Amino acid sequence: MKTRFARRLAIACFFAAASFLRAADLPLIQPGAVWPDDRGQHVQAHGGGILKFGDTFYWFGEDRGQNLDRGSCHVSCYASTNLADWKFCADVLNMVAPTNFGRRLVLERPKVFYNAPTKKFVMYFHMDDGRYKVASVGVAVSDSVAGDYQFLKYFRPLDHESRDIGQFVDDDGTAYLIFEDRPFGFRIAKLSDDYLTVEKEICLIPQHMEGGALVHLNGLYYVIGSALTGWNPNPNKYATAKSLAGPWSEFKDIAPPETNTYGAQSTLMLKVVGTKTTTVIFMGDLWKPRTQWDSRYLWMPLQIGDGKLWLPEPKPWTLDLQTGESKF
Ligand code: GAL
Repeated sequence: MKTRFARRLAIACFFAAASFLRAADLPLIQPGAVWPDDRGQHVQAHGGGILKFGDTFYWFGEDRGQNLDRGSCHVSCYASTNLADWKFCADVLNMVAPTNFGRRLVLERPKVFYNAPTKKFVMYFHMDDGRYKVASVGVAVSDSVAGDYQFLKYFRPLDHESRDIGQFVDDDGTAYLIFEDRPFGFRIAKLSDDYLTVEKEICLIPQHMEGGALVHLNGLYYVIGSALTGWNPNPNKYATAKSLAGPWSEFKDIAPPETNTYGAQSTLMLKVVGTKTTTVIFMGDLWKPRTQWDSRYLWMPLQIGDGKLWLPEPKPWTLDLQTGESKF
């Protein structure tokens, strides 16, 4: 009897110690701070997206590094197994303006999807001329996650204007593009089976918002977006729906409106499902328009559930990928 009790106690102590040690080991994610990569350089993955492939997270974004050739646009790729320590893989797409674009190319908000049937990695991005009149999406593909990506084409999805884009893959694996259609609002559209084109509109949300991001949690869809204020922050808002097609609820603030989302603009919501709980991470950009290379990131675990979504005041936090628990 006594031995059984002692054994149980020893096992309980072992698990408590293991979880304590793991918690102590967890690296900090520090919103707003310089985020050094494995080379000690600030991560350049602005307006980014995340693809989990195997056990590794890949962060794609706009490389706005100071030493880059100003005549072309660069999409960077970083890899991490803990979402805090990032290894620079490469600039996986480097592009110059097509001749009909004039001198300047705008390539923003790259997002990569993995298409299992074709085994291709498909990148979408906002592709535009310097006056933002082309208002299209660009598509590039690769056989391996960290590139190189080959530019394929650009087009207006379903013949609509498209500027800021967002990515969403539902729990059933269906992939969607969220895009801002200036005259009308915010569209959610399904990609074709090979992901190479935008096949079908699912919903038009008649709200003028960009930086669109979506997550599906406990039977409810949550969408967030920012107002159209360019590089300047504004109060980002969210709405919910039981179906992607709507009806969507009214839009509400995700943070105290006077903080302008703590200076951030949404780019993605990342769902991390662990053994104990699920954390949804708000990923936002803290833009510095005049020193773009120094733009920072605001990543925070959201308080989300039962139709409510709230971005807590940013502070350093940790994520236990195994249990899904976040602490700040
Ligand atoms: C923002 C948009 C950015 C970039 C910027 C240019 O509204 O979210 O991705 O396009 O405008 O002014």
